[in-house]
Amino acid sequence: MDYLLRIKEATDYIKQKVSFEPEYGIILGTGLGALVEDVKVEDSIHYEDIPHFPVSTVESHSGTLIFGYLGDKKVVVMKGRFHFYEGYSMKEVTFPVRVMKLLGIKKLIISNASGALNPGYQKSELMILNDHINLQTDNPLVGKNLDEMGVRFPDMSEPYDQKMIEAAVKIGAEENIPLHQGVYVGVNGPNLETRAEYNMLRVIGADAVGMSTVPENIVARQMDIPVFAVSVLTDLCYPGHIKKISVEEVIEAAMKAEPYLTMLIKKVIAADKI
Ligand code: HPA
Repeated sequence: MDYLLRIKEATDYIKQKVSFEPEYGIILGTGLGALVEDVKVEDSIHYEDIPHFPVSTVESHSGTLIFGYLGDKKVVVMKGRFHFYEGYSMKEVTFPVRVMKLLGIKKLIISNASGALNPGYQKSELMILNDHINLQTDNPLVGKNLDEMGVRFPDMSEPYDQKMIEAAVKIGAEENIPLHQGVYVGVNGPNLETRAEYNMLRVIGADAVGMSTVPENIVARQMDIPVFAVSVLTDLCYPGHIKKISVEEVIEAAMKAEPYLTMLIKKVIAADKI
């Protein structure tokens, strides 16, 4: 079936089940789900119940779309996200972003875990994305353009919303949140990088490296949705600090940063005006 039709059928299904109209879409990075606990839940739907929605093939529990209030703002949170390295196509990875747009979201917030390339960064600090480099080998916009959704050649001069970045920097200073601003480079994964690759990524201008966020950003920007994104720095990838990465260490670093991440996103949304 036509991709656009699948997006519309999925949206129609959700609208039939849920009358709540979200203003903000939130995609939480792997292991960074605690924000959900602060949402006053009005409704939720399992991905597997939504027609055409990608379904997790690996995890035993499927993902969930959660509708509710974060403070006084109406949000839809994706609990469970899709990565290119899991075998999903770029169209599948970004399908939920298309659906969230048709559900009415005006802005998109994204978090992720990433490796620090900038030698001024420490583990468990946060980095606000102010730009990105796309090194992923496929692009969600390849193929016939969905003219109804946006232009063929979307502008990328402001991939991350400058006003939200400024608001976040102010909040970070007020709340003593360890915070940087920098360039994220998106790679395929799933393997982590070699030393030579980390060096190259630093040389080409990146401050942090990860395996997500870029496809969702591209699709959101094509639809003119402002995006705010934050990386949790889980490991150090610059000379003198590169060592074998254990999953436990990455999770520990993410857990340490999570309260700051949650506070930052909550306050940025609270201060935001649509
Ligand atoms: N490289 C790529 N992705 C990552 C890393 C990394 O070092 N750490 C967390 N996600």
